[in-house]
Amino acid sequence: MTNLLQTWHDEHATFSRLLSVLEQQVNGFHAGEDPSYELMLDIVEYLRHYADQFHHPREDAAFARLLRRSPELRPQINRLVQEHRVIATAGEDLLSRLREIIVGAVQPKAAVETAAATYLIYYRHHIATEERDLLPRAQALLQADDWAAVDSAVPGGSDPLHTARYAALRREIASLG
Ligand SMILES: [Fe+2]
Ligand SMILES: [Fe+2]
Repeated sequence: MTNLLQTWHDEHATFSRLLSVLEQQVNGFHAGEDPSYELMLDIVEYLRHYADQFHHPREDAAFARLLRRSPELRPQINRLVQEHRVIATAGEDLLSRLREIIVGAVQPKAAVETAAATYLIYYRHHIATEERDLLPRAQALLQADDWAAVDSAVPGGSDPLHTARYAALRREIASLG
């Protein structure tokens, strides 16, 4: 089941690229340019849709199995599971601000910029911690039955990034090179 580990890592790479696109928009925003709110919305919607509903629950399942093999990881894993909830809440907050802007509601510019910047910092730190500390542990400690349990804990999570809904987002990622 090491393919699940590879998928786990590949999804982090995809999320990181999306966060880079979001950051470009936020930087433009800060410099007084008009960002593409639709693009920002696509990114956060995708992350709310896929990461919060499939990637993070699968991690929670993997973390539960890791805890059986390595109980000393409990403080760090508790923190990461809590961060999944914070990321979902922060993403929803940012999403609602972006939706309001798109329909023409007045939003303080600084508030949207701050919400996006906070989301970026928090998310990147979260992914970096998992890549540095948790994936190597999972690779070393989880057995075939653990991976099977992770796979069956959150079934049916095909990545919507490959659907027509996110075609524009795919083009943006491709243009990053
Ligand atoms: Fe996570
Ligand atoms: Fe993750």
